Amino acid sequence: MSNLIVIGTQWGDEGKGKIVDLLSSKADTIVRFQGGHNAGHTLVVGDQVFKLSLLPSGVIREDKIAVIGNGVVLDPWKLLEEIEQLNSRGIKICSDRFLISENTPLILPFHKDLDLLREQKAGKEKIGTTGRGIGPAYEDKVGRRALRTGDLKDPNQVKRKLNIIKDHHDILRAGLGATDIDEEQLFDELMMVGKKINTFIKPVWKILNEQIKKNKNILFEGAQGSMLDIDFGTYPFVTSSSTIAAAAAIGSGVAHNKINTVLGITKAYTTRVGEGPMPTELTDSIGRYLSEEGNEKGTVTGRDRRCGWFDAPLVRRSCLLNGVTSLALTKIDVLDKLEKIKICVGYRIEKEEYTDFPVSTSLSNKLSPIYEEIDGWNTSTVGLEKIDQMPIKARAYIQRIEELSETKVSIISTGPERNQTILINDPFQL
Ligand code: IMP
Repeated sequence: MSNLIVIGTQWGDEGKGKIVDLLSSKADTIVRFQGGHNAGHTLVVGDQVFKLSLLPSGVIREDKIAVIGNGVVLDPWKLLEEIEQLNSRGIKICSDRFLISENTPLILPFHKDLDLLREQKAGKEKIGTTGRGIGPAYEDKVGRRALRTGDLKDPNQVKRKLNIIKDHHDILRAGLGATDIDEEQLFDELMMVGKKINTFIKPVWKILNEQIKKNKNILFEGAQGSMLDIDFGTYPFVTSSSTIAAAAAIGSGVAHNKINTVLGITKAYTTRVGEGPMPTELTDSIGRYLSEEGNEKGTVTGRDRRCGWFDAPLVRRSCLLNGVTSLALTKIDVLDKLEKIKICVGYRIEKEEYTDFPVSTSLSNKLSPIYEEIDGWNTSTVGLEKIDQMPIKARAYIQRIEELSETKVSIISTGPERNQTILINDPFQL
């Protein structure tokens, strides 16, 4: 048995989709365990480009089982849209290879309303959410009133819960100038959607544990990144789920000691979407170069990503928080044309030095990076498949990232295609 968690070590958008898709070939089952359709994965297979935000990346391999765990918040209409999109491209999603946990909370239209209305009202204080209703859906989960996938099979339960939800949400909506929830219409819509997805809804925790007994390989696919974690991220500029590796156990029902390895995905520079501190952000021509060369636009919202140099203390912290056993370094080729490359090795506020992000946002907003500078390699690394083809200076950069993050690199991605990858070690093995 070999089970692997893949997580992002930065602020998301590290290129997890491609790596998960690649490693899916070695897995029997791929599980999403947190987040919702705020995530975005772009997968390139030959001349086909797939953009998914809810279905696990492994779903495009038809011999694999794809699973949405209980830690996810699920918008059933978005799910149907993605299933239909894949069906229309010849990829059949059927209930013997796609499962949804029966205790997965639903994202409903009023969650999205609340998300957008609050962001509008917050003005300059906004989080910069994806506007998908993620935060409000997790609030209802923790508030013990969420409608969960399993409820869809029981109309009376749906009615009862909608009553409770309406009581709670109509007050919030009134405060934000929105009309009351139309309970009856929502009930009818949920019954319709239920008919289409009920067949996928199963006791996922049990099925996964049975698979483990049969020595199957499970790949847990994280969404977002560790710096967006609700506890350890740059709070309040974070998402509303636990994005670190520990969430794989809680969000799927597989005990933590059944999972052996954690692959941390790390972009060769740093990006962030939305508001919040980012010490290495570059607003100059190099920032624009990284943005253009790296095509740094959000998969879900199309927003421009903020770009900056590699932040080593941040990745080192993520490696510890996640128990990362090895790193997958992505988008190294984006740096190919730079004369000089900087790596952040610490931070400073006036004369005081920091080795880590302080917990307070007002302090972390003031961090200025301490940089080390190295020579660029000025050679294309696009599509390289072997480490000894990598220019010496690029190898020195990778080695420095390993030293500073105190973690070895097992995979280097040199382009969006599956074969544009250097495999140094098998990340499924410790
Ligand atoms: P929410 O998850 O929509 O509530 O957004 C909260 C914060 O997380 C915002 O800054 C978003 O831009 C960010 N965020 C959420 N999902 C992703 C993602 O998949 N990649 C990068 N940032 C994300």
